[in-house]
Amino acid sequence: MVETSDTWIRERTGVEARHITETETTVFMASQAAEAAILDAGILPEEIDLIVVATSSSNVIFPCTACEVQRAIGAVHAFCFDLNAACTGFLFAYNTVCSYLESGLCHCALVIGAESLSHLVDWQDRSTCILFGDGAGAAVICVQDGPRGASVLHSDGRLGDALTCETHHQSRWQERTEMTHLRMNGRAVFQFAVKRVPEVIEEVLEKAELSRAEITYYILHQANQRIVESVAKRLGESLEKFPMNLSRYGNTSSASIPILLDELKKSGKLKKGQRLVLAGFGAGLSWGASVVTWG
Ligand code: COA
Repeated sequence: MVETSDTWIRERTGVEARHITETETTVFMASQAAEAAILDAGILPEEIDLIVVATSSSNVIFPCTACEVQRAIGAVHAFCFDLNAACTGFLFAYNTVCSYLESGLCHCALVIGAESLSHLVDWQDRSTCILFGDGAGAAVICVQDGPRGASVLHSDGRLGDALTCETHHQSRWQERTEMTHLRMNGRAVFQFAVKRVPEVIEEVLEKAELSRAEITYYILHQANQRIVESVAKRLGESLEKFPMNLSRYGNTSSASIPILLDELKKSGKLKKGQRLVLAGFGAGLSWGASVVTWG
């Protein structure tokens, strides 16, 4: 479709394979992830009283993806809404859910990151169409999981032009057409990420009064292998503490952190009491980090 090569993509991004939806919707993937998380948590869908889906690629404007997930999984007691913070979405949704739990408004929540960015990508634009993949990940978070670790979240709308996705609808009385374009200044986003992510990790560690030695893993948004490597280097940390799976999924936006967490859990690498830093960045521009103690 575009002039590129497998070698260029592997060397500049680390991506080797991706999953692209054909008939599956964002709701479908989110529901599959939700069911797996509920099964893993050993609870019933009826026990969920809040569903937040982080997505910027829902298939319809409303009902929101979270309500559709509720219907699909039978979480009849939940109230539901979507949250759009692009690739930082899971981190923002996780903190939103934790705040609702702490306020007493709910007791058991489902937080999901789900994206079908393949529908928004311009497949003629080689600087973006090689990066993104579709996917979903989910986590169940309940009050008994203990106090929340520290979090730091940032947005800077002045930098928003670096990564945009605009939808143009024609006027109602004309024939209906719709065009969506994802546009990115790759170099600007790259430079933003390698500066801001280490900074926000330092910031959250200071807030949590933790040293880097007390962190087992840094779970970074999986955008580009070179970004992850650069963050590790700037922090002076071993790359072994930065698990990656983007070679198999590409950048799945708000789904990347929960997909990586799930894989680490399934491989037995996550142990009770380990401290993790989750860190994300993306359109907005937005970025942030949270310290999580694995329970
Ligand atoms: N195949 C071959 N060549 C490509 C290419 C592709 N898929 N995409 C870009 N190029 C070319 C450019 O046209 C440019 O050519 P030129 O020098 O003749 O003008 C050259 O490669 C270098 O372009 P540049 O943009 O400097 O490459 P890069 O090393 O910065 O890599 C990205 C491009 C997009 C991979 C990189 O900037 C990146 O990953 N940025 C962060 C993006 C990101 O993570 N976004 C999501 C945030 S949530």
